[in-house]
Amino acid sequence: MIPRRQRIALLLLFALLVTGDLTGAAEGETAPVFTTQKGVTSLTNQVYRDIRQGKLNIQGDHSAVEVLILQREIPITYDYISIMMRTPNAFGEGPACIVCHSSNNPEHSYRGLDLSTCEGILRGSTEDPPRPIILPGNPEKSPLVRRLHSNRMPLGIPFFHPNDGPSIQMVKQWINDGAKNDEHFNKSVLPLFSDKEAFGGDFPCSECHPSTNGLSLTSYRNIMRGAFYKSRKREGLPILPVVIPGNAEESPLYQRLTTNRMPPGISPGEDINHPNIQILTRWVKQGAWCK
Ligand code: HEC
Ligand code: HEC
Repeated sequence: MIPRRQRIALLLLFALLVTGDLTGAAEGETAPVFTTQKGVTSLTNQVYRDIRQGKLNIQGDHSAVEVLILQREIPITYDYISIMMRTPNAFGEGPACIVCHSSNNPEHSYRGLDLSTCEGILRGSTEDPPRPIILPGNPEKSPLVRRLHSNRMPLGIPFFHPNDGPSIQMVKQWINDGAKNDEHFNKSVLPLFSDKEAFGGDFPCSECHPSTNGLSLTSYRNIMRGAFYKSRKREGLPILPVVIPGNAEESPLYQRLTTNRMPPGISPGEDINHPNIQILTRWVKQGAWCK
């Protein structure tokens, strides 16, 4: 009597031999995903192996995306991106992106941005100031990705609230002037972050970003330490700045005050780690191929 474990191992070996044979027979054709070519372990076989070894735990809403797509570097095709751009509620409740971004004509499409074709996505916004919305390979720096998972601040501020008010202008100017720790900063800029009236909304920034949280807006030192300072330090990771001195446009602090999450009106309560946001992020990271 062969022990159960070994029986399974034998069966598997047999299965591998059979599929290996099939590959040989189907020369010239594209091998189906299941077959195992010489020296190549198919995705499916890897998954079965991981299941046998008890390594696979697919439970909860997003874990199939995480475990079967992201961790295994499945190539994301433009086909799927195209479908997401055309589908309502694809990234949380709201109309499909292409309703408002369907051509390079700024009379019919916001920012002259065409999200209905791959070329349009790569071209970016054509209305003044024209600018790309993705940097292939670099999702963190891609406005398209940011616009999907970064809520405008203060959290809950509505889309129609002006994004060029005097407090925002003052923060912008301070950053562009080099983000110095001077008298002007301490007297006029820093107090804005604990003033409920400064940026609108129901709470001052410091209410949600006190000294102990992921981001602290309570002192010059804490602001310059960026987001998640403590946990990143513990893990030996470099700081994640929210202020890039001299460059407000590139500074998350200024971006968060001025740019709305898409689609307009989406609730900040909608999951910022929505599986489709993660898949789109991966597409950009993999190079944003149009294939
Ligand atoms: C109801 C109309 C509407 C829908 C739907 C919509 N947008 Fe927008 N979008 C706008 C408006 C208006 C602006 C310009 C104002 C602003 O920047 O917030 C904009 C701006 C943008 C920008 C910034 C472009 C730039 O030049 O910086 C991006 C990126 C963007 N949208 C992506 C999307 C994506 C992705 C979707 C789908 C999830 C989407 N939008 C859905 C109206 C819409
Ligand atoms: C009601 C709570 C709340 C208020 C008020 C609030 N924030 Fe936030 N803020 C959050 C949350 C939650 C996140 C992270 C999740 C997200 O992006 O939605 C965040 C993220 C940020 C980030 C991004 C940090 C990073 O990860 O890079 C910045 C910058 C920021 N907030 C600045 C501000 C500023 C400036 C104000 C005041 C104008 C403000 N916040 C007010 C809750 C709040």
